[in-house]
Amino acid sequence: MLRFIFLFGMVGSFACPLFASKSNGNEPTEKALYKASGCIACHRMTLDHIGPSMLAVSQKYANDPNGASMVLDSLKNGAKGKWGNNVMPPQSHVSDHNLQLLTNWALTIKDSPHLESWQKAELVTQESNTVLSTDPPLDAKYSLPENRVGTVVEVKDEPIVYRTYLPGASSRAIAVGLPGGISYAFDAKLCKLLYFWEGGFLDFEKSWTGHGGWYSKLMGTKIFEAPANFPLRMGSKQSPVVKFVGYRTDGKLPTFLYQINGLSVEETIGFDADNRTIVLSFKVSGAEEPIYFDPGQSSSIWSSDDAVEQKGAWKVHPEKRKNFSFLAQVK
Ligand code: HEC
Repeated sequence: MLRFIFLFGMVGSFACPLFASKSNGNEPTEKALYKASGCIACHRMTLDHIGPSMLAVSQKYANDPNGASMVLDSLKNGAKGKWGNNVMPPQSHVSDHNLQLLTNWALTIKDSPHLESWQKAELVTQESNTVLSTDPPLDAKYSLPENRVGTVVEVKDEPIVYRTYLPGASSRAIAVGLPGGISYAFDAKLCKLLYFWEGGFLDFEKSWTGHGGWYSKLMGTKIFEAPANFPLRMGSKQSPVVKFVGYRTDGKLPTFLYQINGLSVEETIGFDADNRTIVLSFKVSGAEEPIYFDPGQSSSIWSSDDAVEQKGAWKVHPEKRKNFSFLAQVK
C-alpha cells in the first residue's frame, strides 16, 4: 500500500505545470517520470530493448515537423509496426500532460550531454551478467518476446529473472522463474526470500499497462511463505544492517549479493524438485563471529548439514561460515 501512495504521489506531482520547462535530456523530472511511469520495462536510453532506445527515437524524428505529434499519438493509443514486431500498449495510466512532457523530452535525447555516460552504463549492464545496483531498475531482461504469450511470461529451459512489482513485496521485488513450474520472489529491499509459488510464472498485464494496479499476477499457488524476520544473524548483533548490492546470473540460478553489517553475502535460492525442498545457499566472506540462521515461525521442516540447532535457531559450524546451506521441505 505504501508503494502506491509513493508512486502516485510522485506521478501526481509532475502534473504541476511548473515543470513544463524546456528539456535538455537530463531534467530530473522527466527522467524520474519515465521511470515512475514504467517505461523502463521496455525502453533504455541508448540501447534498443523491447522498444526502441530514446536515442533512436530522437534521431528518427530529428527533422520531422510532425515527429512530436506522432510520438504523442503512439503513447496515447499504443504503437505497432513502426520499429519492429513488438507492441507498445497505450500508456493510458499516464496523464496527457505527462505524456506531452515525456514526448518533448524523448525528442531531445540525441543532444543530451549525458549520452555517453548512459551508453557506458547500459553497455556494462548488458555485457556483464552482474546487475549491480542499490535500486535495480524494473526490467524485462530475458528474451521477453520469445517467452511471452500475450502478457503471460513462461519459463522454458533456463531460469528467468525479472524486476517487477509483486504482491506482498516492497517496490524492489525480483521474480525468479525456474524450469519445472516453480517460481519465487526475492525482496531486494529486505534482502530475503519472500515466497515460492508453483504453476505458471507471471502475468505482466497490470504492471505493463498500469491498468488496475502495477502488480504482476502470480500464475500459480503459493507453496511457501517466508516468515517476516530476517533469517541471518552475525555475532551478537540483534538487528543486522542489510544492504542490497545486486544480483548475478552467471549460473543456472541467480545469485543475490548483499551486505550484512558490512560483510559480503552471496545467496543462491534453488529448488530440489525430487525432494520438494527449497535450498538456500549462502557464502559469507570474512565472518569472524558466529553466524546464526533463524527460520522464524514457519510450517516447513528445516534442516542443514552445516549447522546445529539451538533453541529454534541454527548456529553455523565455524568451518562452514564461508559456505553453508539450509533446506526447507514444502508440501
Ligand atoms: C510493454 C512495453 C512498453 C512500455 C511499457 C512502453 N513502451 Fe514505448 N514502445 C514499445 C514498443 C514495442 C515500441 C515500438 C512500437 C512500434 O514498433 O511501433 C515503443 C515505441 C515508443 C516510442 C516511439 C514511438 C513512435 O511513434 O515512433 C516512444 C517515444 C516510446 N515508446 C516511449 C515510451 C514511454 C515514454 C513509455 C512510458 C510512458 C513507454 N514507451 C512505455 C514498448 C513499450
